[in-house]
Amino acid sequence: MRTQVAIIGGGPAGMFLAHLLRQAGIDAVVLERRDRAYVEGRVRAGVLEQGTTALMRRLGLAARLDREGLVHGGTNLSIDGALFHIDLAALTGGSTVTVYGQQEVMRDLFDAAEARDLPILWNVGDVALHDLDGARPWVGWTGDGVARRLDCDFVVGCDGYHGVSRAAIPAAVRQTFERVYPFGWLGILADVPPVEHELIYANHERGFALASMRSATRSRYYVQCALDEKVADWSDERFWDELCLRLGPEVSARVTRGASFEKTIAPLRSFVSEPMRWGRLFLAGDAAHIVPPTGAKGMNLAVSDVIMLGEAMAEYYGERSTTGIDGYSARALARVWKAERFSWWFTTITHRFPDMDVFSRRLQVAELDYIRGSEAAQRVLAENYVGLPMEVR
Ligand code: APR
Ligand code: PHB
Repeated sequence: MRTQVAIIGGGPAGMFLAHLLRQAGIDAVVLERRDRAYVEGRVRAGVLEQGTTALMRRLGLAARLDREGLVHGGTNLSIDGALFHIDLAALTGGSTVTVYGQQEVMRDLFDAAEARDLPILWNVGDVALHDLDGARPWVGWTGDGVARRLDCDFVVGCDGYHGVSRAAIPAAVRQTFERVYPFGWLGILADVPPVEHELIYANHERGFALASMRSATRSRYYVQCALDEKVADWSDERFWDELCLRLGPEVSARVTRGASFEKTIAPLRSFVSEPMRWGRLFLAGDAAHIVPPTGAKGMNLAVSDVIMLGEAMAEYYGERSTTGIDGYSARALARVWKAERFSWWFTTITHRFPDMDVFSRRLQVAELDYIRGSEAAQRVLAENYVGLPMEVR
């Protein structure tokens, strides 16, 4: 079997890239370790930057997004129960974000892939990358117990943090940078109306909380928890009580409680692996970098990577120019590090750190109070929150 671009992993990075390459007339095959139901079933964040919605439109994937996505021109911060609003649109010259779950994005990507006959190989095992430093790389894998081979011009590792692609870059070349946070997020989904029509990022003495949503009738809530806590220790009642304490009496009086149908704990991590290209291998999305979920940059960052990579490949096949692919790693990393900085900063000012002394807590409160009172500070937050330019051409 032969193709131009072998894409390892069919998450957001891999599937957006597959659609981008198809639009550019470049052949690609996606190799995914799991099945569609598994990939589509994973509950992740749900805030799309404008660059992401613009790409969905350009790729003809936005029909349902335009009907069902919730456009937010603002967001809220809360400090010890006192809420204040950030007018994202006014601060950024009209930019907004759209609340639309990653599960919905995946469904749209897979439905369109089926309609467009994009080749996806499901349930592939033992993926191994070969001859990446030569002119003719290939991917080995097993399907139905049989060893198979895919020859290609390029391999793109879109196989997430736990994938195999990143490790194919020799250790002598690869540098990794990491921060592991001493807490996790316990998240629930419940079919109750959201407490507020826009999100609330709450810093409370007891820890961080986030009020988000999926629709007018479905809420997504999170509370910061310790890393050794178990989901089983968190009854719905305990969750709602803790959430309400952290949102404060005024907001929590409006919280509608209900049975949760999803409850998981996720760790928080900042991680970058450099470079994002080695020979004929390129990395995109979580395979190269992780951000903590504060600010919901994860999927948006995967999208900005593959936009740059798609352009670079179109340039290579269309004009036989290697300028784009040679510049990909540096160009992608420049944007990645800015999103890393923002996600780290937003996490730092909103969470309770176990070793936090009174001095650090006072600084945190002062920083949030400064944001409340300063249009300049709000604009910095807003510009990053709605997303730095993705240059969708
Ligand atoms: N072979 C083939 N596929 C693999 C392999 C492998 N060895 N290892 C992992 N995969 C698949 C996974 O099953 C998954 O579907 O690669 C995909 C990676 O998807 P994500 O982890 O979602 O990563 P990415 O596409 O970069 O998305 C980034 O989306 O899921 C969120 O938290 C993530 O917000 C981040 C964004
Ligand atoms: C979510 O709705 O799941 C969500 C929203 C905003 C975030 C993180 C997660 O920053």
